[in-house]
Amino acid sequence: MKRIDFAIIFMATIMYFFTGCQDANKKKTVKSGYDKEIRELISKMTLDEKIGQLNMLSGDWSVTGPVVRTDFKEDIKAGKVGTMLNAYTAKHARKLMQLSVDSTRLGIPLLLGYDVIHGHRTIFPIPLGESCTWDLDLIEKAAQIAAEEASAEGIHWTFAPMVDIARDPRWGRVMEGAGEDPWLGSQIAKARVNGFQGEDLSLNNTILACVKHVAAYGAPIAGRDYNTVDLSERTLFETYLPPYRAAVEAGVGTAMTAFNEINGIPCTSNHWLWEDLLRGQWGFDGFVLTDYTAILELIKHGVANDLYDASVLAINAGVDVDMVSQGFINHLKKAIENGEVSEERINQSVYRILKAKFELGLFDDPYRYCDTVREKDVVMTKEKVEFARKAGRDACVLLKNNNVLPFSKNIKSIAVIGPLADTKEDMIGAWTAAGDRYTRPVTLLEGIKNKLGTSVKIRYAKGTDYNSWSKDGFREAVKAAKKADVVILALGENWQMSSEAQSRSMIDLPGNQNELADAIIKANMNTAIILMNGRPLTIQHLDDIAPAILETWYAGTEGGNAIADVIFGDYNPSGKLTITFPRNVGQIPIFYSHKNTGRPFNPSDHYTSKYIDVPNSPLYPFGYGLSYTTFQYEQLSVDKTEISKQDTLRVNVVLTNTGNYDGAEVAQLYIRDLVGSVTRPVKELRGFQKIFLKKGATKKLTFLLTDKDFSFYRKNMTYGSEPGHFEIFVGGSSATMYKSSFILK
Ligand code: GLC
Repeated sequence: MKRIDFAIIFMATIMYFFTGCQDANKKKTVKSGYDKEIRELISKMTLDEKIGQLNMLSGDWSVTGPVVRTDFKEDIKAGKVGTMLNAYTAKHARKLMQLSVDSTRLGIPLLLGYDVIHGHRTIFPIPLGESCTWDLDLIEKAAQIAAEEASAEGIHWTFAPMVDIARDPRWGRVMEGAGEDPWLGSQIAKARVNGFQGEDLSLNNTILACVKHVAAYGAPIAGRDYNTVDLSERTLFETYLPPYRAAVEAGVGTAMTAFNEINGIPCTSNHWLWEDLLRGQWGFDGFVLTDYTAILELIKHGVANDLYDASVLAINAGVDVDMVSQGFINHLKKAIENGEVSEERINQSVYRILKAKFELGLFDDPYRYCDTVREKDVVMTKEKVEFARKAGRDACVLLKNNNVLPFSKNIKSIAVIGPLADTKEDMIGAWTAAGDRYTRPVTLLEGIKNKLGTSVKIRYAKGTDYNSWSKDGFREAVKAAKKADVVILALGENWQMSSEAQSRSMIDLPGNQNELADAIIKANMNTAIILMNGRPLTIQHLDDIAPAILETWYAGTEGGNAIADVIFGDYNPSGKLTITFPRNVGQIPIFYSHKNTGRPFNPSDHYTSKYIDVPNSPLYPFGYGLSYTTFQYEQLSVDKTEISKQDTLRVNVVLTNTGNYDGAEVAQLYIRDLVGSVTRPVKELRGFQKIFLKKGATKKLTFLLTDKDFSFYRKNMTYGSEPGHFEIFVGGSSATMYKSSFILK
C-alpha cells in the first residue's frame, strides 16, 4: 500500500473515531415528551431506588438462560427491580405490578418483557420462514398481532426483532433472524419494529421492541453459538450493522447486547458500540439492556476480575439494564462511593428507563395491560389464526418439483410418512413465547385430513424417528407408500435442533432419514418431500432422488393446514430463500453477495478458485424458490445509460406468468459495482417486488434506484457512491444473469 494511502486511512480512522466519540460526548440522552415528569421523579429518588431501576430479574414462567433463583417478589417490594422478563398473563402481571406500585416508596411501575419472537399465543412461522415470504406488510402485521396478544397478557416489551445477519447455517439461531442479506434484513427489521411498536406506544395494544443482538452475534467462528466474532471493520459495517441501524432509524425503543466480543471487546462492555456508534452516530435514544447474565460473563471473557469490575465496565460502556447478573444492584453503589461510576451516569440510565415507562402509559395506568376481559377477547381470535395460516403458506419455498405437486384432490389414497408428519410440538419451532406446543398446533397429517376429509384413504407411518438409526419402521412405511396413489414424506429436524445453544457441526438430515427417503421414493415415485427445519440443511442426496421438495420451516400454529393448502394446490407457493443452502458443510460460509477475487472460477483454467470435490455454486441460492407456474422476464431496460448522483434511475422489466397457475413472483433487483476503490460484491440486492399475476397475465415493473443504492464504505471508510460502471440484474433469484448496465458519473 502506498504511503499516501496509509496516511489517508490513518487520518480517516482517527477522524472517524474522534468524531464518533466527540458526537457521543456532545449527544446527551434525547429529551422525552415527559422530560419534566421524569426529572421531577429522579430528583425524588434515592441512589438505591435509582440503581433498583437498572436491575432486571427473571420470573419463573419461562427459562431462557442459566437459572438464577431469586425471591423476586421481595426484591420488587424492596424497590430493587425496575424490569422483569419471563412473566405474563394479565393476572400474574397485575400481581407483580401491584408489588411495585403499592409496596415501594415511589410506586414506580415495573416494565415486563418477554421473548415474543414469532407470535405470543398464535404462533407464526419461525422468523427465517417468515422472511422467505418477502412480504413486508405480512411481516409487520404478524408482529402487530403478536403485540396485540402479548399486551393483552400484561407484557409491555418484547426482546425482538432479532436481526442478526447469519451466513453460517451451523449456527442454531439462523432460525430466529431474516437470513444473510443486510439490505433485506434492514427492510424486515423496520417492518418488525413498526409492527410491535405501532404509531403510539401508549396504546394498550402496542409494545416496546428491542433490536438484538448488538452486534454481529450471527457471525460466531465455525457457527458455534456464543463463540468469538472476529470481523474486519469493513465487513462489520457493510454486512452486520445495517439491520441494527435500520431498527434504530425505525425508532426501536431498546437494544440488547450480544454475548460476543467485537474487535476484542465484549459488546456488553463496549463503549464504542453504545456511546460512539449507536448513540453518537445513529442517534439511538432508547435504553440498552444486556443479554441474559452477560455482565457476569465479562469475567469469563477475561476483561473483568469480578462482578464489581464487570458492572463498572458495563455501566460506563453505556449499558442501562442488567439482565439477571445482579451486578448493578450489588455493586454500583460501592462503585459510586469509589468514584469509578458517576451518579450522573446512573441518572442517564434511570432517565431512559423511566422514559420508556412513561411512553408506555404505565404512570397513567400501571394496569392498562392487565385486563383479563380483553385478554380473553384478543388472544387467538379466528382472524389471527387465519392470518397465521396465511403466513404459513407464504413461508413455504418450493425447492424442486418434477410435476408432482400440487397433488390432485381426486386421489383415492395418500400415504403420509416421516418423523415430522404428525408432531404437534415441532410445528411451531423454537422461541414460541406462550404458544401452546403440545395440543393446539395442527400437524401435517391433521392438515391433510382436514383438507381431504373422509373421501380419500389416508395411511400414516412414521418410518423412523427424527434422529434414529433404527429401521424398524421402514417396512410399514414402504408398505403404506406402495399402496398409495401419492406420498407425502415429512423430514427434517425436531424443534430443539436449532435455536439458542443448538449449533450443529454437520447439517445433514439427522439419523437415517435419507435412507428412509431412498426406500419410500423407490416404492413410489409420486412422492413429495416436506421439509421442517430451523436452518438450511445439506440435502444434496435428497435433491438427487426426490421428485419434489417443499421447504416449510416450522410453519406455526396452523402449520398443517397451511402446508396442506400448498400441497393440494389451494395456494401456489411463492416463498424465496433468504439464506443460501450449501451443497455440503465444507462450503460454509457461502452466500450470494461474495467477492469476485483475483482468480474467479474458470473451468478452463486450473489456477482459479474452486474445490476439487464440489462445485462452487450452492445447492439453492439466495432468492430462489419455484412456483407451480412459470414466470418470464423480458424487456429489461434503464431510462438512462448515464446518471449523476442526483438522478433517479428507472429500471423497467416486463414480467409474464407463462404457466398454468395464477401465482405470485418475487422479482428481485441486484446491482454490481464493477470497479471500486475497494473490491465490491458480484451482486447486491437493492430492490424487490412481490407481484401476483393470473396465468397468462403480464405486468410492467419499475424499480427506482438512487445514489443511496450505490453507496458503500469506501477505501477511507466514508460512506457513499463512486463513479463508474454498474450492472443491474433482475430475476427470480440471485442466480439471475438477466442484466442491463449504466454509468454513474
Ligand atoms: C437469551 C437470548 C436472548 C433473549 C434473552 C432473554 O439468552 O440470547 O435473545 O432475549 O436471553 O430471554
